[in-house]
Amino acid sequence: MSETANQSSKAMTPEQRVERLRREIEHHNYLYYVLDAPEVSDAEYDALMAALVELESEHPELVTPDSPTQRVGDRPAEGFAKVQHPVPMLSLENAFDPSEVEAWGQRIQRRLPEGVSIEEVRFVMEPKVDGLAVAVRYRDGVYTGAATRGDGLVGEDITSNVRTMRCIPLRIPVDPEAPGLPESLPTDLEVRGEVYMPLDEFAALNERLVAAGERPMANPRNGAAGSLRQLDPAVTATRPLRLATYGVADPSGLGVTGQWELLALMRTLGFPTLPDSRRFERLSEAIEYAREWLDKRSELNYAADGVVLKVDPFEIQELLGEATRYPRWAIAFKAPSEEATTVVEAIEVKVGRTGRIVPHATLRPVHIGGVTVSQATLHNEDYVRERDIRVGDTVLVKRAGEVIPQVIRVVLELRPPDTVPWRMPERCPSCNEPLHRAEGEADTYCVNASCPAQLVRRVEHFASRDAMDIEGFGSKLAELFVGAGLLGDVADFYRLDFDEVNALEGFGEKRTRNLLSAIEASKDRPLRRLLVALGIRHVGSSVAGALASRFGSLESISRAGTVDLEDVEGIGPEIADAVITWFASESNQHLVSKLESLGVRTADLVQERQAAVVGGPLDGKRFVLTGALPTLTRAEARAVIEEAGGRVVGSVSSRTDYVLAGERPGSKLDKARELGVEVIDEAALRALVGT
Ligand code: IVH
Repeated sequence: MSETANQSSKAMTPEQRVERLRREIEHHNYLYYVLDAPEVSDAEYDALMAALVELESEHPELVTPDSPTQRVGDRPAEGFAKVQHPVPMLSLENAFDPSEVEAWGQRIQRRLPEGVSIEEVRFVMEPKVDGLAVAVRYRDGVYTGAATRGDGLVGEDITSNVRTMRCIPLRIPVDPEAPGLPESLPTDLEVRGEVYMPLDEFAALNERLVAAGERPMANPRNGAAGSLRQLDPAVTATRPLRLATYGVADPSGLGVTGQWELLALMRTLGFPTLPDSRRFERLSEAIEYAREWLDKRSELNYAADGVVLKVDPFEIQELLGEATRYPRWAIAFKAPSEEATTVVEAIEVKVGRTGRIVPHATLRPVHIGGVTVSQATLHNEDYVRERDIRVGDTVLVKRAGEVIPQVIRVVLELRPPDTVPWRMPERCPSCNEPLHRAEGEADTYCVNASCPAQLVRRVEHFASRDAMDIEGFGSKLAELFVGAGLLGDVADFYRLDFDEVNALEGFGEKRTRNLLSAIEASKDRPLRRLLVALGIRHVGSSVAGALASRFGSLESISRAGTVDLEDVEGIGPEIADAVITWFASESNQHLVSKLESLGVRTADLVQERQAAVVGGPLDGKRFVLTGALPTLTRAEARAVIEEAGGRVVGSVSSRTDYVLAGERPGSKLDKARELGVEVIDEAALRALVGT
């Protein structure tokens, strides 16, 4: 980060660089806190801040009291009176992985009196709701006012706005007779919690705002903050604000001994708490549960950016006390962020097996959500151009689930002065032939059929696990064999002889023999794998399986027309077209006959096919499946039908014999009714096949 910031401003003096970063940060603060309309993600903001911190630590003489690095907490918006918090509103220490939480546990253990083990201490886990912290005050049980956290010492007076929140009691019931209620309340009580917007109501609010021609809120957190900071409480009153109560300024005098009891008492007193809180006998159990909970947090109706783990007994909380800005008895265990910024070290293009040229960014390695990311796809020429991604740029990278990391955008403020726009190369990096991009198409191709890079990818794919599964043959060997001229196409696998393989670097007799027998074994793979191996567009395992079980051989697939192909379940016009186009190519036809003549099986054996069940109870009957069946999966239903000699087709036509319908059927059921096709359920199917 910082290095880029330094480079970025080679021409500027440190004073100018510091000034520029401060202006940027202040601008983003304003957008975020005041306008509630941020333009950059947290990760980008953090990158700017980190660059400034670094620069200031190199030049301490440039640090001024008004630098954004000197500010703690939020800026109070103008228009609200300031309120001093009688008890400071602390912040929380952060942990980003379980080992950091365990280390926190060890620090706690060291502070416990001799003879007391952390194993005996209970912990409470609460969601870390992503909203705005508020303090709500009561005198003799009557609401007197509310304030935002502000910088922790001084916040903004939002008394009138909070008063509009229906989920917050204006009078706390005190009844010495009622079970669970304290006999009396302390004269002054300050309840603390997070104000947030439930996600569904946030979405509905945005729809209303847009419909009214107003600007939607950037996210629920900003929605909550913006709504609480309305100068007109009447506007706040229309906003779906909720409180998640998590504490009080001073629990003494409430008759509770720990956090867990406090939460229960708060509920009794009429304050909402989140149902997801839990108490654990041991820290390790809390960590375990928190990890699982964090993984599932996208299913919640509120935004949580982590969990808060708290020592339960107040006695031990007091013993542990506070560090300057946070209590030692609590820690925020943050969900791994899926975004980070890093530097683009190179942009290169790779040649795919179809000749498609895909730009890739090599990134300075960065941890995102528990993995190290050092590569990201840039998809195509327009993707890079629209975002103006350059070598040397600091970029925001996002990783969502299993998906390949994406470069979202460039942090322009950190762009070094000497970068140049990226351009798609004019020639293929592998064969040096000119590249082509068709009018109106996003992708660029190397159209040279004998381009070695394409061949390497095709060979690699052919040998891969889901395809011909040639054991031990990966991308390294694909390069080696193509480079040595041993594989001019995938059929050449079956022409390799012992001496030429044995002569390759890294090959001895044993390895050669193993590889050749792995290749020999691949000759007998089922048709569905051979289909995958050929690399026909859109033909992955499941389509290949459907084709194989319907047609049984490459030969009959090659003769199938659009109608025959589209008759197969799961195959639509696009796939049918790709299959027809592939088999229409002369060089592909040549490849197929070459494979055949070299002994590769191109048809499934009879016993692997439905031919075996000719004469079954459903002989020749055509079925269409729709909806979810009570006990059978789709694949099982298909097997039942096929074993009885029937077949499953994709769409309902007058030639369909039965539509097998389950729960939530689709339009196929309507079609069946329209055409008068018999509709049956699972039980009727079982009756037909006699099971
Ligand atoms: S306890 C003294 N509990 O996180 C302990 N805070 O990073 C301080 N927050 O300012 C707060 N959910 O806005 C606590 N269950 C929870 C919380 C929570 C969200 C926020 C709160 C606080 C910030 C600290």
